[in-house]
Amino acid sequence: MANVTVPCLDLKDGHKIPIVGLGTWQGTGETDEGGIATNVENAISIGYRHIDTAQMYFAEAGVGKGIRAAIDKGMVRREDLFVTTKLWQTHSRREDVVRHLRKSLDKLQLDYVDLFLVHWPCPLKPMEENMFPKNDKGEVIFADDIDYLDTWKGMEEAHDLGLTKSIGVSNFNKRQIERLLANCKTRPVNNQVEVHLFFQNRDLVKFCQAEGISVTGYRNLQFLNASQSPEGPKTDVIEAIANRLGKTIQQVALKFQIQRAVAVIPKSSNGERLKQNLEAVNIQLTDDDMKALEGLDTNKRTLDFVFNGSKYYPFADPY
Ligand SMILES: NC(=O)c1ccc[n+]([C@@H]2O[C@H](COP(=O)([O-])OP(=O)(O)OC[C@H]3O[C@@H](n4cnc5c(N)ncnc54)[C@H](OP(=O)(O)O)[C@@H]3O)[C@@H](O)[C@H]2O)c1
Repeated sequence: MANVTVPCLDLKDGHKIPIVGLGTWQGTGETDEGGIATNVENAISIGYRHIDTAQMYFAEAGVGKGIRAAIDKGMVRREDLFVTTKLWQTHSRREDVVRHLRKSLDKLQLDYVDLFLVHWPCPLKPMEENMFPKNDKGEVIFADDIDYLDTWKGMEEAHDLGLTKSIGVSNFNKRQIERLLANCKTRPVNNQVEVHLFFQNRDLVKFCQAEGISVTGYRNLQFLNASQSPEGPKTDVIEAIANRLGKTIQQVALKFQIQRAVAVIPKSSNGERLKQNLEAVNIQLTDDDMKALEGLDTNKRTLDFVFNGSKYYPFADPY
């Protein structure tokens, strides 16, 4: 297979984000550094140029090794890659942001990342570790006295220092983004949120895009696993389109987002599926296909997480 050329979305600060990236959250980051490194190197060898990671995935060291191997073997130069990492919430104090980005850069073996995101708008009790601090009752300890606007000042400092080309947010709702836009020096250029066929997040995507904030959707494929959907995945409509095009339902699910200018970051540890996910860019969905797929939206998110005790919990608002 010839390498697939992946189109990019323009970011408002002049940079570009490849519309398909590799997700690296696989729950085995601490114990499978070698596996993550091999996966990242394989992905780069077949044309991936965008790698999505986070401090909390414990995958940065593996990602760094994979990138280093690909560069050393002459597959790519650093500037050909778009690497995202995310600030974990135990580092939400302004003065902690740059220090923890530097730690990420050490693990990634990089001088800068392309995009640094605030992972969630909900600060946690400050700690050196990437973890969920918990009290004796096992409840998560939030730090409601830290405002994400202060965290953002640290993000701006990281940007000013050249440690990241762009800055953005993840899991922020409309109201939180509006507040950030009204109080920032450097605008966020990306919001990474849950987006898939059954949770199309249309109002938030529309709002972000109108504000010049690109959207990256996560969990683009998880929803197709029966365990993620209480009623079982309803895939007839997707299957009909996939069969007509000779593609998989996963490829159709990815292309639906790409065609509405939402970047996707599917995670796969399987060589064949890695390729299929990248090749989704070459599918052409008709207007009728897009309409039929729009009709699958149930507006129910699958990832609510444990932040609903935070003052800044984002998912109580409609979007
Ligand atoms: N910002 C946030 O708060 C946040 C939250 C969640 C996720 N994320 C990011 O988004 C990325 C993706 O989300 P995710 O990992 O939750 O889920 P996902 O990418 O939607 O789904 C991954 C699952 O789908 C399978 N899969 C991948 N490609 C496939 C294909 N072509 N056909 C069939 N099955 C396929 C994978 O198995 P195999 O590996 O066996 O192929 C894996 O079980 C994460 O890795 C992470 O980087 C961000």
